[in-house]
Amino acid sequence: MAFVVTENCIKCKFTDCVDVCPVDCFHEGPNFLVIDPDECIDCTLCEPECPANAIFAEDELPAGQEMFIKLNAELAKQWPVITEVQSPLPDADDWNGKPDKLKLLEK
Ligand code: SF4
Ligand code: F3S
Repeated sequence: MAFVVTENCIKCKFTDCVDVCPVDCFHEGPNFLVIDPDECIDCTLCEPECPANAIFAEDELPAGQEMFIKLNAELAKQWPVITEVQSPLPDADDWNGKPDKLKLLEK
């Protein structure tokens, strides 16, 4: 199993999650982060840190978020590792909780 970053991270990218991961398994794209499922050790530390509540265990994903399992695995292979916390994206607080953000994902 692994933890998965889901839709509400898109256009927020708060990056608090990065600070607590002991195995550096977050990878960064333009407006979204993903978790490498091959590296995640299921420590659970990142889940409560996300201000957007975007991180879930693979077997506890909210309905409609199942496609993010594959998306995390695919994009983790393409995007570089991120190990340092950054400022959130501009307007992250406004985008937090907005529906239908998958179409805004930049790859
Ligand atoms: Fe990293 Fe632990 Fe979160 Fe997996 S569950 S992404 S190992 S902090
Ligand atoms: Fe995204 Fe939450 Fe991390 S918004 S960057 S999963 S802290």
